[in-house]
Amino acid sequence: MKYISAGIDGPAGAGKSSVSKAVAGKLGFVYIDTGAMYRAAALFAMNNGIDIVNERERLISSLDRLDIAIKYTDDGQRVFLDGADVSETIRTPEVSVGASNIAVIPEVREKLVAMQREMAKHDNVIMDGRDICTVVLPDADVKIFLTASVEERAKRRYKEMTEKGMDADFEEIKRDIEYRDKNDSERDASPLKIAEGAAVVDTTGLTFDEVVEKLTAMIKEKM
Ligand code: DC
Repeated sequence: MKYISAGIDGPAGAGKSSVSKAVAGKLGFVYIDTGAMYRAAALFAMNNGIDIVNERERLISSLDRLDIAIKYTDDGQRVFLDGADVSETIRTPEVSVGASNIAVIPEVREKLVAMQREMAKHDNVIMDGRDICTVVLPDADVKIFLTASVEERAKRRYKEMTEKGMDADFEEIKRDIEYRDKNDSERDASPLKIAEGAAVVDTTGLTFDEVVEKLTAMIKEKM
């Protein structure tokens, strides 16, 4: 059976995960959040006292001990590191920056990309990340580049964090987003860029529901 795949790439905070999750729910697709896998890899390094930026060789030689699993429950995707559910722990600002730093390492990418391709073989999927349409699934049926202005993305992240009762500093969030934009787009290994044939959807000024409707329609067209 041929499964449908939709790849959603875009910068940090563009709303990729919440939008992709909602679209997957509407269409009965499996949602795969690949950023969570880079976050879990960063947490692995942090838990093992490895400095991601300055101890790259040590990190690379420990990669065969990296044990990440993705499982689906009624709460959606859960991420496990060494058998422990780390779905919430990987959302801190420290892990966000660690994930952006670890994502520049080709050996890390190779390992996670192989897992992601395998996952797309068994279901209709919506996969979000930075390199889905360029590297992971270049033949995806639907390719989307979801973006929004830095200001708008920082506002959304701030709202999301304060609503969850997390400590949030708007200027710090904005700086983190700018840092990650630069890091993600300027790295040598699979930089964030618009894939050939991808549709660019700028969500600045659009409501969440409008974006979900738009993407759902784009995927339905291919079904
Ligand atoms: O989407 P996110 O913020 O959870 O991603 C965390 C980091 O992981 C982000 O800074 C870039 C990196 N990433 C990546 O390089 N490739 C992906 N497919 C997904 C995320």
